[in-house]
Amino acid sequence: MLEELAAIKQEILEGIEKNATSRSNAFELRKQYLDSKVGKIGQLMKQMKTIAPEERAEFGKNVNELKNWALEKFTELDEKMKALELDLRYKSEKIDVTMPSKKVKTGNLHPITQMRNQLIDVFAGMGFEIYEGTEIENDYYNFTALNTPADHPARDMQDTFYLSPEFLLRTQTSAGQIHVMEAKKPPIKILSPGKVFRSDDDATHSPMFTQMEGLVVDEKITLCDLKGMLDVFVKKIYGENTTTRLRPSYFPFTEPSVEVDVSCFECGGKGCKLCKGTGWIEILGAGIVNRKVLENCDIDPDKYSGLAFGIGRYRY
Ligand code: PHE
Repeated sequence: MLEELAAIKQEILEGIEKNATSRSNAFELRKQYLDSKVGKIGQLMKQMKTIAPEERAEFGKNVNELKNWALEKFTELDEKMKALELDLRYKSEKIDVTMPSKKVKTGNLHPITQMRNQLIDVFAGMGFEIYEGTEIENDYYNFTALNTPADHPARDMQDTFYLSPEFLLRTQTSAGQIHVMEAKKPPIKILSPGKVFRSDDDATHSPMFTQMEGLVVDEKITLCDLKGMLDVFVKKIYGENTTTRLRPSYFPFTEPSVEVDVSCFECGGKGCKLCKGTGWIEILGAGIVNRKVLENCDIDPDKYSGLAFGIGRYRY
């Protein structure tokens, strides 16, 4: 009988050795010996009746000892397995905080906003201040003060969005020139970016587009200042090899007026699809501020002169 108990003990030790891999394996093993119904040690207890009465007490004591020993062993095993599994979990869930993080993709600025920012950078570098006008203007600022006669076609309903007989959506950022010159006396150097609106809509015309107005008013401002400043600006925006060309033009609020072309940045001036074979691309309208416009703003045209330009032309 004692041998049988020793054999079970040995079996348990070997079993523990083999099954020390997970908590569930350890639990199954424990059941094989300690389960009250099917466990081997439980079975031994049931054999009690078949033992001779004088050996019974001794047998019971030995079986009990074995049971307690096994209980201790299995509890120990269970503790070990618990620690092992926790350890494995910690290892698998370990986070390396020094790993490079996944890049979060954010949106980009709209191309028009990017262009606007670039232009502002260039002109701010030349000392321009930003003036943002309003998109709703009245007839006086958008036309009258800018020396635009009452019969000018731009004033036509077909070209301008009127909100009322007096109010309209500005057709040009030039309206801002008047506000600035009313509020401030020379020297003036402002850049005015913004949306403008014209009642025109086809494949090449959008009813809303953006312009960037520039205005410089000081003593002795000439067309040379305009040309020199534009040369710096186009080289910064379109590249060092870009050149400019001024063509005579007409705007009611500038005299003389010019249209400014840059050598085509696609073909370098040889002529291509983009520049329609001409080698030049028109980028802005400009000129020397008309005396009448200065007078409208109470600026003495004999003392001061000004230059103005509007990037982002769109012909009436
Ligand atoms: N406002 C003119 C246009 O929209 C451009 C311009 C601005 C011309 C300033 C001369 C001076 O076409």
